[in-house]
Amino acid sequence: TVHGVPSLSAKVVGSFAYLTVKDRLPTILTKVIDTIHRNKNKFFEEFGEEGIQAEKAAISLLSKLRNELQTDKPVLPLTDDLEDVDSWNQYLQRQQRLEGDQELVSWFKSPWLYVECYMYRRIQEALRLNPPISDFDVFNEGKTQSFFESQQAMIVLCTYLEGMRKNIKELSKSQLSEHFNKLLQVALWGNKCDLSISAGQDNSQKVSPIDSLVSLKPFILVDHSSMVWSTLISTQNSGRTGSVRVDIVLDNAGFELVTDLVLADFLVSSGLAHEIHFHGKSFPWFVSDVTAKDFQWTIRQMMAANHMWMSRSGVQWQNYVKEGVWSYHDHPFWTQPHEFCDMAADAPDLYATLQAADLVLFKGDLNYRKLTGDRDWKYTVGFHTALRGFRPAPLCSLRTLKANVQVGLQPGQGENLSSQEVDWMTSGKYAIIQFNSSLAE
Ligand code: F6P
Ligand code: MG
Repeated sequence: TVHGVPSLSAKVVGSFAYLTVKDRLPTILTKVIDTIHRNKNKFFEEFGEEGIQAEKAAISLLSKLRNELQTDKPVLPLTDDLEDVDSWNQYLQRQQRLEGDQELVSWFKSPWLYVECYMYRRIQEALRLNPPISDFDVFNEGKTQSFFESQQAMIVLCTYLEGMRKNIKELSKSQLSEHFNKLLQVALWGNKCDLSISAGQDNSQKVSPIDSLVSLKPFILVDHSSMVWSTLISTQNSGRTGSVRVDIVLDNAGFELVTDLVLADFLVSSGLAHEIHFHGKSFPWFVSDVTAKDFQWTIRQMMAANHMWMSRSGVQWQNYVKEGVWSYHDHPFWTQPHEFCDMAADAPDLYATLQAADLVLFKGDLNYRKLTGDRDWKYTVGFHTALRGFRPAPLCSLRTLKANVQVGLQPGQGENLSSQEVDWMTSGKYAIIQFNSSLAE
């Protein structure tokens, strides 16, 4: 606990954390095992006998992992050769000290954030220990499929973007701010489409992402978009460096990534920003999170799309990347279990990177859990308090609610929602656009 605020954990029987560890995580592991098995002929046999053995060995490690999880065994140190092994194992020791020596850190007793992150790292370990298949992305099929299933919605979005691009230089401030608000909301609701909450089931965007904004508006519980807008505008005017930089900490591939790229394109082509840094994961994570491969693949698919506006957007994005206006970055910290308030001490280089941004957008639920430490905060606690000193730059969380953590609500707001809908915090139906300036309070 931090100041008596406990971490969400599966030890609270019946909680969403409990249901996730009990049901959703084993389902995801079973799908991973099945995927490796199904791809045996397609990918692994080219490595001959070694490939076949690797496939068998990885499956057996993953079945063992599923068994450890389901029987609440202690969390084990990692044994592969990735650069982050030491910091994971140190984290385990830190966690063990926090929990006291009576009981070992384990799946159902320890913080949910930690064990859930650990599961994805163990999947990676099972592959790394079997070199012929160590680069295989067990979630690739799902990500690719959800991309194609959202094509219609992407076309709508790209048509909107290309229509606006034509006369973007003539738009007034208020017209720009209107477009900004729309695209910020599109990027917000894009977060509904992750494949972790659905345990890998199809969860793609089927309706028009622009037309649905009005009807979705009442479900935005905290809306600080005007503060995000003023941050962008005031940075323009301050002329600090002459170049405005926005960092986007990405979440999911598929439709959500396209909404983020459309927003980034708008920021650049309107002149509101001059540089966008995207931050993604260095290995497959929480089923649908963006890796470098997904990022490149998505832009290539857009370019090759059989639709004029979609491919035009793709070509534009490829140019941004070539010219360095857009850049993709990954860092091991994003695939570790740490709360973001640990970043300054545990990943000072990454913290310094974010400090160079004028605005940082954090996409999605997991990032929100890490911003707030995944704790059982009172709903009315300030976002600033929950961040516990994490303020590298002005930042904004764009998140649909999929976990039992929410701060910064009005008195009574959370209680009202709870009395109407038991699962308002976990259904993905509600969302927040929550801002925090970089200033100490
Ligand atoms: O377990 C479901 C879940 O893992 C959430 O608890 C987690 O935070 C979320 O899915 C991932 O969502 P997102 O892709 O928005 O980070
Ligand atoms: Mg995700």
